[in-house]
Amino acid sequence: MTRKYFHGATQRATHPLVWFAAVICTIIAIAVIIVGIVMFAGYMIIHPRVPFITVTSAHLDNLQNSVSGLLDTEITIIVRAENDNTKAHASFSDTSFILSFEGLNIARLVALPFDVKKNSSVDFHYVVQSSSIPLSPEQMDLIDISLKRDKISFDLKGNSRARWRVGPLGSVKFWDHLNCHLKFHPSNGSYIHSHCSSRAK
Ligand SMILES: *[C@@H]1O[C@H](CO)[C@@H](O)[C@H](O)[C@H]1NC(C)=O
Ligand SMILES: *[C@@H]1O[C@H](CO)[C@@H](O)[C@H](O)[C@H]1NC(C)=O
Repeated sequence: MTRKYFHGATQRATHPLVWFAAVICTIIAIAVIIVGIVMFAGYMIIHPRVPFITVTSAHLDNLQNSVSGLLDTEITIIVRAENDNTKAHASFSDTSFILSFEGLNIARLVALPFDVKKNSSVDFHYVVQSSSIPLSPEQMDLIDISLKRDKISFDLKGNSRARWRVGPLGSVKFWDHLNCHLKFHPSNGSYIHSHCSSRAK
């Protein structure tokens, strides 16, 4: 019995390759922990904030519908790209927003890739001019109702891709999504301010 037991123990002696694998695994585990600590320290020091996009102001310059069902409109929209990071530049790309009325696309607002300096912002003034947009009878009714109530709502939807450095080890990419209603008083064109930002309130 004793001999048999001893024999079995010998068979289970650890192979040098297993020791080698264990050492490698330990080194990898320690490396992962160190990288984690460095990234966390970088995060704490730099305190990264997601750059975001906001509609700061707008104006309905013109809104006219004809009896034949054509819509003419001009809308000014001011979009701000904001980078609250005090230690990192941000860059934005693939910026594209669609302005629509009740599912009817009016215009696409785009921007070429651009940079926003540390703790800074960049404003884009868009002047959307659209004429002779054909309306369906339902959309014509909705325009009439909006004019009577002196309140009209457009939709602005789209994305921009923000990229900025986080810590010493690299950069982060993030999609900024915008999905909001732009409301105006048609009588004087004034914008009814509401939250319209890729950053949660
Ligand atoms: C960031 O900008 C704000 C206002 O624009 C300013 O009050 C603040 O001091 C700036 N912070 C740094 C670290 O530059
Ligand atoms: C525009 O009209 C609305 C409603 O009639 C009013 O509340 C608002 O103060 C006006 N804005 C300006 C800038 O005159």
